[in-house]
Amino acid sequence: MKLCPTTLGLVAMFLGLGEAQVTWPNAIDELEDVMFLNSGYRSRGFGTHVTPCSFSEFGAGRNTAAEWLRIGFHDMATTNAFVGTHGGVDGSIQFELNDGENIGLGFNTTLHTYANFFNSKLSIGDLVALGVYASTRTCGGPIIPMRGGRIDVTVAGPIGVPQPQNGQGIFINQFTRMGFNTTDMIKMTACGHTLGGVHAGDFNNIVAPGTVANDFQLFDNTLEFDNAIATRYVSGPDTDPLVVGISVANTRNSDFAVFTADKNVTIQAMTDAATFNSMCQDILQRMIETVDPSIVTLSPIIAPYEVKPEGLQLTLLSGGATISFTGDIRVRTTTRSVSSVSITYLDRTGAAGGTITTAVSGTASGFDDSFTFYGINANIPASSSISSFTVVVTGTSGTIETFNNNGAGFPISDSVIVQTPQSCLSNGNLTVLAAVRATVTTPVSLNVTEKVPRTAGSPIVSPVPSLVTTSTTMVKGAAVGPYNIYSGSVSYSSSSGLKYGVGSGTFADSFKDASALGTACSPLGTTLPSSTSSSTSSKTSTSSSATATPTLAHKATVGPYSYLGCYTEGVGVRALSSAAFYNYTGMTIEQCMSDCSGYSYFGVEYGGECYCGNALGTGSILAALSDCSFICPGNAFEYCGAGNRLEMYELTSLVSSSSVVQSTTSKTSSLSSVASSTSTTKTVTSTSSSSSVAPSQTLGIKQTVAGYTFQGCYTEATNIRALSSASFYDYTAMTLEACAADCVGYTYFGVEYAGECYCGNVINTGSVLAAASDCSMVCPGNEFEYCGAGNRLEMYKIGTVTVSTSSSSTSSTSTSSTLSTVVSSSTSKTSTTTTAKPTQTAPAIKPVIGSYKYYGCQTEGTNIRALTGASFYNYTSMNLEMCASNCAGYKYWGVEYGGECYCGNAWNTGSVNATASDCSFLCPGNSLEYCGAGNRLSAYYLP
Ligand SMILES: *[C@@H]1O[C@H](CO)[C@@H](O)[C@H](O)[C@H]1NC(C)=O
Ligand SMILES: *[C@@H]1O[C@H](CO)[C@@H](O)[C@H](O)[C@H]1NC(C)=O
Ligand SMILES: *[C@@H]1O[C@H](CO)[C@@H](O)[C@H](O)[C@H]1NC(C)=O
Ligand SMILES: *[C@@H]1O[C@H](CO)[C@@H](O)[C@H](O)[C@H]1NC(C)=O
Ligand SMILES: *[C@@H]1O[C@H](CO)[C@@H](O)[C@H](O)[C@H]1NC(C)=O
Repeated sequence: MKLCPTTLGLVAMFLGLGEAQVTWPNAIDELEDVMFLNSGYRSRGFGTHVTPCSFSEFGAGRNTAAEWLRIGFHDMATTNAFVGTHGGVDGSIQFELNDGENIGLGFNTTLHTYANFFNSKLSIGDLVALGVYASTRTCGGPIIPMRGGRIDVTVAGPIGVPQPQNGQGIFINQFTRMGFNTTDMIKMTACGHTLGGVHAGDFNNIVAPGTVANDFQLFDNTLEFDNAIATRYVSGPDTDPLVVGISVANTRNSDFAVFTADKNVTIQAMTDAATFNSMCQDILQRMIETVDPSIVTLSPIIAPYEVKPEGLQLTLLSGGATISFTGDIRVRTTTRSVSSVSITYLDRTGAAGGTITTAVSGTASGFDDSFTFYGINANIPASSSISSFTVVVTGTSGTIETFNNNGAGFPISDSVIVQTPQSCLSNGNLTVLAAVRATVTTPVSLNVTEKVPRTAGSPIVSPVPSLVTTSTTMVKGAAVGPYNIYSGSVSYSSSSGLKYGVGSGTFADSFKDASALGTACSPLGTTLPSSTSSSTSSKTSTSSSATATPTLAHKATVGPYSYLGCYTEGVGVRALSSAAFYNYTGMTIEQCMSDCSGYSYFGVEYGGECYCGNALGTGSILAALSDCSFICPGNAFEYCGAGNRLEMYELTSLVSSSSVVQSTTSKTSSLSSVASSTSTTKTVTSTSSSSSVAPSQTLGIKQTVAGYTFQGCYTEATNIRALSSASFYDYTAMTLEACAADCVGYTYFGVEYAGECYCGNVINTGSVLAAASDCSMVCPGNEFEYCGAGNRLEMYKIGTVTVSTSSSSTSSTSTSSTLSTVVSSSTSKTSTTTTAKPTQTAPAIKPVIGSYKYYGCQTEGTNIRALTGASFYNYTSMNLEMCASNCAGYKYWGVEYGGECYCGNAWNTGSVNATASDCSFLCPGNSLEYCGAGNRLSAYYLP
């Protein structure tokens, strides 16, 4: 992680705020662990998905940190700060992946990752917010203050995520609706676009496919969270694909539209690094704190506990005379050097109990903090037992700090406890035994919460499961010492993320991880718990021996490989870049060796990342051996590198040299066979079906395509795409057949703007039939087919029956044959177009464009443009429909000089009506329409 001095200053400031420690246990406890325990003992590994900043477990051309930042904005962006349901960061994004506004693989994979952390104490909304914190921090940005408590919704929000094709005025309106003014909009956009870039595969009207590595163009030239997005915009060279390049002609240069909204004032200010960081810290905090105030109360800003109990468990031992007390005390070591930790406890009556010493069980770290865990493994009398404790931390310099959890001590209840050694998980059946104080007389229940995949019941399947809790009453068994034993059993479908708890009245021992249970069940009820100290204490002794025993070492040889040392990553390239594998829970040196079998080198980094290669990347050099300090998650006696450090091995034995070539080849080919395909299929489909339609081809409306029938020329819907289930783009080779093939299984497909293909099972509200002649763009992949126009879809429906919505008075067959006979050759595309749409043969002033009406031929203003709301340029394919669609939402728009489109809500001073015939330029995208002239706008208005 890159930490500039400024950032370090912010760290110090933030930690210096001296937030009062929250009282344990607390609603934010789960979130706090996931936030601060990135790696090491008891780590949760959330941050490892975005570490280092450039990392993606999904391969080249992906950047998880950027994807996490983006999903934060997209989840928030449908909020309405003014009316009705407010929205905000509420996890609604999981139900919005098919609404056409959340394009890209990152949303799905991010939600899959978050789904693994999601549980009854950690909402998707909080994870989305935490992802903003983690992605910013791992890339060297400021600490975004984090609060917890967001509540997930269970349905999609309205649409309204800003899209690149929107005009400046629309952006301003959308951000205002979210509760952010123009300055905020510019900050949020710049801070969001300091990470990541644009995938050509998702937006090929912004980045042309085949022009950049991995078809992924960064917004700026760095991966880090820095102000290059602002400095390069202001001083150049700017490579932001949303400012320069093909997005300009395609009117997708949305960063330009946003940054110029206040005449570059805010983006100028952001060219100062410190200003950039503080503005981002503020605006991203406000972004993730956008929540519905009527249902969500956010927690105070989360600071790491100085001292926090983790995984505490009481277990009644055989005979009932003794209780074992296990778990860890987590001590924040960022700013303290600890010599020893002990706890002083009170018995169940509140009288002094005694002191328990601890032993180090491991260390862990987050982005800005480090922790050491002190293990508890004590036996205490069941009769007197325990009710609370304080923690005494002795520093290396002899200082003594006592932590009493804001006065009351850390509470621990012995009334209802889960007997984990007697509980088990097997064959779809979770069996739990609980020890309940004989004095507790209320019924005892077992709760099991399962993660159930959301498969049915909704047209949109969320990648996030739902949580389903089953509650059963436990059955009372034998009395053991001062306790009664209860048992209960629940069947489950998936053990992944399974949690359980037992409770009675106000007492509970809950939020237990079922995966920690064994598969062997003890007999129920009557049997006393056998001596169980072995299983609990063995856990502690294993981990203490893992840190102490001399067998933890850098392994000299593994199979045919020998240890090379602790290596850094390359500069701008991975040290080993041929293949990669990840396993944050079970990685060992042996596993990586086996995954990299055949490669000359393999290396394990950051505990769970395995890389293979046949050469070391430039800049990868030997580092201090002690740098490689992470213990392998799958083997406590092996080291698995560290952050930016690889435990590096080289193939030294020739034993397997014959398999080297073979496996390398197969891996290379499987790695490279990612893309391509479909285009071949499309060509074949298109050729075969189009050739069967008519022997002598002419440009015309195709009545049937691959089992679909033409429905007419449709407009887009209101605030949503007409067809919103799936979409594909191909501006160079789109044909009706290609779109039909991409939309297989959907009821409708439609092609718009020549290269955009949309699929859906319904035509969304607001999409209506327009004049067939509106759909005037010829398909780039077939000069005899029409592919819609701006805001117009060439619409097809599954089935071959003639539909009543056809605008033609003649039957579809006769229309088709008429068109075929009228046009004898396709040598001139222009004449073909003209004759194929018999309704219009010469350029004319169009009285109506969508919902707009002709206003007149208007001059520019005096020292100001006539319309200043937004503007778009496209000198090659502008037409009136395109301008109308780009200006949607504005009262007026006009096209000037052939390719310039201006939008506004009022005419500026000096703009007056001119002679209609002044507007004499034909539109480059439709030679039957007029597109203004020099200093003349062909103008339209919303009546
Ligand atoms: C979503 O992501 C998961 C996990 O990476 C993957 O298995 C799945 O195929 C993806 N689904 C889609 C529709 O991309
Ligand atoms: C935008 O909102 C911020 C935060 O409320 C405020 O400080 C700023 O003055 C506003 N800017 C404008 C131009 O209204
Ligand atoms: C804003 O900055 C951009 C990029 O430097 C520049 O092209 C544009 O002319 C500027 N606009 C204003 C109003 O200063
Ligand atoms: C689950 O296991 C318990 C204990 O072996 C048994 O009594 C119970 O019938 C099992 N339940 C199911 C649903 O299989
Ligand atoms: C069990 O679930 C019920 C219903 O969801 C809840 O009211 C109760 O508090 C839960 N008990 C425990 C011990 O988790």
